Amino acid sequence: MPAQPKPGRYHVKSFGCQMNVYDSERMGDVLAAQGMTEVDTPEAADVVVLNTCHIRERAAEKLYSDIGRLRRPRADGSRPTIVAAGCVAQAEGPEIAARAPDVDVIVGPLAYHRLPQLLQRARTGRVIDIDMPPVPKFDALPARRTGQASAFLTVQEGCDKFCTFCVVPYTRGPETSRPAADLVGEACALVARGVREITLLGQNVNAYAGGLSLSGLIRELAQIDGLARIRYTTSHPRDMEGSGGDDLIAAHAQVPKLMPYMHLPVQSGSSRILKAMNRAHTRASYLATLARVRAARSDIALSGDFIVGFPGETEADFQETLSIVHDVQYAAAFSFKYSVRPGTPAAQMPDQVPEAIKDERLARLQAAITAGSLAFNQASVGRRCTVLLERPGRKPGQLIGKTPWLQSAVLAVPGAAIGDLVEVEIVSAMPNSVEAVPFTQSQVA
Ligand code: SAH
Ligand code: SF4
Ligand code: F3S
Repeated sequence: MPAQPKPGRYHVKSFGCQMNVYDSERMGDVLAAQGMTEVDTPEAADVVVLNTCHIRERAAEKLYSDIGRLRRPRADGSRPTIVAAGCVAQAEGPEIAARAPDVDVIVGPLAYHRLPQLLQRARTGRVIDIDMPPVPKFDALPARRTGQASAFLTVQEGCDKFCTFCVVPYTRGPETSRPAADLVGEACALVARGVREITLLGQNVNAYAGGLSLSGLIRELAQIDGLARIRYTTSHPRDMEGSGGDDLIAAHAQVPKLMPYMHLPVQSGSSRILKAMNRAHTRASYLATLARVRAARSDIALSGDFIVGFPGETEADFQETLSIVHDVQYAAAFSFKYSVRPGTPAAQMPDQVPEAIKDERLARLQAAITAGSLAFNQASVGRRCTVLLERPGRKPGQLIGKTPWLQSAVLAVPGAAIGDLVEVEIVSAMPNSVEAVPFTQSQVA
């Protein structure tokens, strides 16, 4: 029996990357434009959207366990309309339909602007929409509602790079860029709602080509009064190499609103493994890019992603990954065990690394990364900078914000409000955060 939704309250749960966070918010915009109200828990919702990620297997498993919980009838006998969205929906739509017959709507990341029609059709039976429509969803989305201090803005979607381990080219389709004029419009609307910082998002954001290059777009957005900070993520090393990255790197020296932070995933320190990954950069070319970046902006905070246990990775290859972490001194980094993704070339490669070795390498890598983050944070003690206040802290009077280098800063600023930019001095460091005091206060102390 298909559900008969009372189309009143919705809840969107996000798994996966920042682009999914953006998409979740936009699905909320779509549902709110239909007169629906957002609620904080799936239990209180009539429509629950599970916005999934396919990058590693755990998120798919979480989808199935969430569906299992949601389909149990509630005290009043009702159950919510269940929407499976995102990259698992795109990659495994028919499997979800077979394995979880209670799902009402299966919608891919490029088709969610059609949610109202899909929910309507779901009243008479399950619907699947995993098209990659030629008309971009962005043109069909309603105005944004967010008024947070810091907001995401997707500028580029999809990927043409086909790293041998990765599903994104299959779940998000080919690289496409939104027109710069649309993005300036969306950014102005965000700033009018009180947003002070915008993070430009793309799977390969530095491949952005929407009439302007990424640096051109950043320079354009920097003209918006009231917008204080601009960030972007994720950049691909290949698009940063040679003259391609010159203007973006120069922008870090020239545009004060562009924050000194760059996420540039290397994945492995071994050029042999990078070749097998089809990354199209080598250890040496990556390090040469970082040298150019640091020459332009010496205080830049660098971050990256790493995969351990890619097929064929030896202890010697892994040592090269450890040494790159040591040499680069990342401010932060994300590390993952290689996960076999069905349909990708690496899934067929010989010499898959045993799980126990992956676990052990991951632990060693994470220890090196944590030590690097702590060293970065410790080196920032005594620095004066601005912090953008984003949310209340755990203790009364405490606020949490971000430094220019994307460190989480914990501080107390009497009279300050979320969204304020305050001048601070960093006074102490932990691996994942720093403590700061308002600048004037530290002068007195
Ligand atoms: N486009 C970005 C990465 C997007 S995916 C880039 O190329 O840099 C985010 C991260 O997930 C990747 O950087 C990688 O470290 C990790 N990842 C992707 N596929 C994976 C897999 N099959 N197993 C483990 N980690 C993976
Ligand atoms: Fe995946 Fe590689 Fe594309 Fe990044 S560049 S999204 S890792 S295929
Ligand atoms: Fe996951 Fe899709 Fe993002 S697979 S990482 S949600 S692009």
